[in-house]
Amino acid sequence: MSAEVRALVWDGNELRILDQRLLPGRTTWIRTRRMETVAQAIETLAVRGAPAIGVAAGYGVALAARERNATVATIQSAIVRLASTRPTGYNLFHVLDVMRRVVDRGGADLPGRLLRRAIQIHRADAKSCLAMARFGLNEFGLEESVLTYCNTGALATGGIGTALGVIKHAFRHGRVKEVYACETRPVGQGARLTVWECVQAGLPVTLITDNMAAALMMSGRVQRALVGADRIARNGDTSNKIGTLSVAMLAYQCKVPFHVVAPITTFDSSLRSGRGIPIEERDPAEVLRITPGLEKFPEVRVWNPSFDVTPRRFITSYITDSGVVRPPFHF
Ligand code: MRU
Repeated sequence: MSAEVRALVWDGNELRILDQRLLPGRTTWIRTRRMETVAQAIETLAVRGAPAIGVAAGYGVALAARERNATVATIQSAIVRLASTRPTGYNLFHVLDVMRRVVDRGGADLPGRLLRRAIQIHRADAKSCLAMARFGLNEFGLEESVLTYCNTGALATGGIGTALGVIKHAFRHGRVKEVYACETRPVGQGARLTVWECVQAGLPVTLITDNMAAALMMSGRVQRALVGADRIARNGDTSNKIGTLSVAMLAYQCKVPFHVVAPITTFDSSLRSGRGIPIEERDPAEVLRITPGLEKFPEVRVWNPSFDVTPRRFITSYITDSGVVRPPFHF
């Protein structure tokens, strides 16, 4: 079981970050005591997935407090720096708020208190994953084939995962027999990370390119689709990896239940609808490098939004760590 796959490890003195840019080819750990290394790891997708980004940022703040000549002012600017790394996933901002409150309270041994809080956030995320896995089990029939998008497993969280965590748990209970993983262009989180995690878990996996999802659903081969979320607005609109919206619309059209799996820390109660969710746009190089030779044509423009927003009407249910929420949705 992939509980052994871990994106982040606090080893008592330093943070270890599994470098996801190198998977599935190489398993390499970044070892650091510096906040800036954590910030850059988040920006460059060495660590990614909304809950894992939040956990990493918690450790980032704790590391800033342990750096030489750290003061309350340097810790506060570390929080600002970490907040600048990726705009869409809400867990990051939730965690930074928690850490900011620890700083604001003041008192003795601030580094110790920040570290304990970061460790607690990490453990709480692992517990949330287990809760989602348990609540999610009842959504399945028997021996289903399911479709998933991006990577939402242990690599994306502090525990077993959100959508992929639910799927792995359901597999162990005989509710799921196989997973179809969409490649997830341009960065390939599905092909590189989900496939790898499924192999680690002994879960049968079939890789498809993103443009095969419609044919797959029309063929009747999948009974359900499960995805994670980066930020969910009060009305249920959900941002997740670019391409999720296409899968949601296809699922709706094909009457395939479509579930969003996310902990409560992904819900942004300040936003009425998905229109307010900031969508990160990333380096065009992520798209261009898929097609060698394109770099010779600088006149080619690229649009590379990293996330899209799925309106709530396409979502069958939200599997959260507090239970399953079905329409009509009230958050
Ligand atoms: O750009 P990424 O790899 O950080 O995007 C990740 C996703 O979109 C995941 O689906 C989402 O964070 C939920 S992961 C538990």
